[in-house]
Amino acid sequence: MNNWSRKDFLKTSLLGGSAALFAGHGRLYGQTSPAAGSANGDVRVGCVGINAQGAGHMRDYVTGKIKGARLVAICDADEAVLNRRKADCEKEGGKVATYRDYRKMLESKEIDAIVIATPNHWHSLMTIWALQAGKDVYVEKPLSHNIWEGRQAVEAAKKYSKQIVQAGTQNRSSQDIKEAIAYIKSGKLGAIKWVRGTCYKPRDSIGLTTGPQAVPGTVDYDLWTGPADLTPPRRNGGKGPIHYDWHWFWNYGGGDISNQGIHQVDVARWMLGAEGMPTSVQSFGGRVGYRDDAETPNTLVSVFNYAKAPLIFEVRGLGRKKGMKAMDVYRTSSISVTVQCEGGYVAVSEAGTAGIYDADGKVMQKLAANTNGSHRQNFINAVQARKQSVANGLIENCHYSTALCHLGNISYRVGAEKSNAAIADAVKSSEASKEAYGRMVEHLSANEVDFAKTPAMLGPLLKIDGAKELFTGSEKEIVAAANKSPLMKREGRGAFKVPQIGPKVVA
Ligand SMILES: NC(=O)c1ccc[n+]([C@@H]2O[C@H](COP(=O)([O-])OP(=O)(O)OC[C@H]3O[C@@H](n4cnc5c(N)ncnc54)[C@H](O)[C@@H]3O)[C@@H](O)[C@H]2O)c1
Repeated sequence: MNNWSRKDFLKTSLLGGSAALFAGHGRLYGQTSPAAGSANGDVRVGCVGINAQGAGHMRDYVTGKIKGARLVAICDADEAVLNRRKADCEKEGGKVATYRDYRKMLESKEIDAIVIATPNHWHSLMTIWALQAGKDVYVEKPLSHNIWEGRQAVEAAKKYSKQIVQAGTQNRSSQDIKEAIAYIKSGKLGAIKWVRGTCYKPRDSIGLTTGPQAVPGTVDYDLWTGPADLTPPRRNGGKGPIHYDWHWFWNYGGGDISNQGIHQVDVARWMLGAEGMPTSVQSFGGRVGYRDDAETPNTLVSVFNYAKAPLIFEVRGLGRKKGMKAMDVYRTSSISVTVQCEGGYVAVSEAGTAGIYDADGKVMQKLAANTNGSHRQNFINAVQARKQSVANGLIENCHYSTALCHLGNISYRVGAEKSNAAIADAVKSSEASKEAYGRMVEHLSANEVDFAKTPAMLGPLLKIDGAKELFTGSEKEIVAAANKSPLMKREGRGAFKVPQIGPKVVA
């Protein structure tokens, strides 16, 4: 993404040959008005949300890193971001149409495919609108802000099935994980006992404001807020009052399990071979080690129970010990998935190392390199082929993995602060929870967290009706509170209501 040069950009003009070949398999792209210097047959792409992740997408198209496609439009609710990115494109010789209002971008007949890299609270609605407008879609992870709207996006993809949808869970294109899954399936390590995902990633305080913050004049805040509740920003750390730090507020994001963590949740669920929802979930954790404006936990354990085996997920935002930047390592790395089998384990890491280990932790076999960088090209290949089956990032998979993040967060949010002794007692009957809780206490003690002043939160063990995508069970009050969570369902507001596409599910 850093090697964005004029030389690279000029390569786009050489892509005509391969693009035309691709185009022979389906509809021919770019016939209406091919951009100067670009070839017929390219998929014409519009990127929405181009501050950080979206800028990376944009560059991949402008520089010709992605074959068979070209960038024709960009959209951002922040005029300063939009102008900056337009200038970036022009510097490389790229001409793009610019939009602040996504709905206007969708009206353009010059755009075939949309790449969505806005904050999470916009992902589902933008996906649905793009499909309704006849566009193919690459939507960044997580799929949704809440389970219900994610389901509507899945149903929209089914309804508009001629269009291609790729979810941005890029590990689905990674060769090492495919090899790891094949090894597990071979049965050489025996049955799976548990799967653990870790997201030990440093997350500093975002600081403390004294009240609502002013919205910069360049930001159309109504558009930025979209289907979320319209409320002034209450943050102003290093990233300012608008961008990025929305991850740590329930109105927009879901903390690090929904940010970095969704990647490892998705890989863990895939490696476990667990289709769909778990049968129950329980979480504990807290936002500890500092006081700041943010709402989401920086320390979280969620245990998802599946018929096959439990999937345990751990978020740690604090270092190894107080004052230390380095993060804890779980077996092989800090951001990882470990599949513990009867006769050994398989571990894959975000850093790209993957291997098979025996029961003593000795490496038996190294796996192929991580190839998740091919995921964006895989989307264009699927679009050119007009075949959803070519795309690796199926929206339904992303929906379920995103839903796990929401389920974990809901258990946490309907929980209550408890003493260490009370939590230890509550989780003692689950080996997976007991073990993870013990290590969480060790980790927080190393960070000198005073549990008397900031006790951890313990969420209830919540049963899930996977078919209805709702909580269920005899503890009516808790179940009702969990089902009422905005992470379960939020319909949007005003012009930004999420349409009901699929079967009606009543909470
Ligand atoms: N796949 C990955 O590995 C990966 C990595 C990083 C981020 N992401 C995802 O990408 C998304 C964006 O992350 P980021 O760090 O770039 O966030 P960011 O806050 O820095 O940027 C989001 C941009 O979207 C714009 N935006 C908001 N609402 C808009 C609207 N209605 N219309 C047009 N533009 C709008 C904002 O103004 C901003 O410029 C997140 O959902 C994140 O989870 C994925």
